[in-house]
Amino acid sequence: MSLEGKLALVTGGGRGIGRAIALKLASQGADIIIDFFRRRETAEQTAKDIEALGVKAEVIRANVGDPAKIDEMFNMIGNKFGHLDILISNAASGVGRPVMDIDIKAWEWTMDINARACLLCAQRAAKLMEGRGGKIVSLSSLGSFLVWPTYAIVGVSKAALEALTRYLAIELAPLGICVNAVAASFVDTEALKFYFDEQLNRGNLPITPAGRMVNPEDVANVVAFLCSEEAFMIRGQTIIVDGGFSIYTPLFALEKKD
Ligand SMILES: NC(=O)c1ccc[n+]([C@@H]2O[C@H](COP(=O)([O-])OP(=O)(O)OC[C@H]3O[C@@H](n4cnc5c(N)ncnc54)[C@H](OP(=O)(O)O)[C@@H]3O)[C@@H](O)[C@H]2O)c1
Repeated sequence: MSLEGKLALVTGGGRGIGRAIALKLASQGADIIIDFFRRRETAEQTAKDIEALGVKAEVIRANVGDPAKIDEMFNMIGNKFGHLDILISNAASGVGRPVMDIDIKAWEWTMDINARACLLCAQRAAKLMEGRGGKIVSLSSLGSFLVWPTYAIVGVSKAALEALTRYLAIELAPLGICVNAVAASFVDTEALKFYFDEQLNRGNLPITPAGRMVNPEDVANVVAFLCSEEAFMIRGQTIIVDGGFSIYTPLFALEKKD
């Protein structure tokens, strides 16, 4: 699956799952724009690792929770490149609280970064994809339909993101743009430690029926497939990457396999 000559923007592409996606798309020949918010050095290191694969990498700082910064980012992409082929809406943040402690600030912070940003980025990206057959993939989570402690706002934001994915898929189809989402179970990144540190410290590692945790590369592989022409007829879907975790009834303890 070659992505040679394609240009991809990965929001939050400097580290974690976004980094794995950026490297995977680069390994297939795409030039990559990495958006970051706080960690410039990490994003620049990822850009260097991408360039080592023989493609071009660009780093942009944009808080995707701020519509003006999204505009600035796309203005820059438009002015410098004039087009875009792939948008990966990966950046996410969130306030971890039980529902009774959620206030408006926490709600808006999480929804703006996790759901609204995808809408605003897709609107701008679609214009740069016109006539090129673009791909948009957003990163969701099993928390959109499973209930985990303190994950309420993020779960709701991901449910919104999945619904948005369906609407975008239908409304952007006439422009030749394929839109889908990928929802992972627990992946060992900083986000996992942020939300589930206590559970992990108690040794409750989220092993799956497949015998290990999902890793960032597992997610990146599926994202890359959705960016390929082989996935042309998949539209508006949320593909679950969880080693069977969400369909397993835990009657028996799971055993780790190496
Ligand atoms: N880890 C999991 O278990 C898991 C499971 C299911 C789904 N997911 C989803 O997969 C995606 C990536 O997760 P991850 O675990 O890799 O997260 P992570 O390690 O916490 O990394 C988050 C990334 O998002 C960027 N970011 C955060 N807020 C931003 C903002 N306002 N504007 C621009 N960039 C921002 C960060 O940039 P800086 O580096 O500059 O801070 C960082 O690159 C997310 O959508 C997440 O919800 C993760």
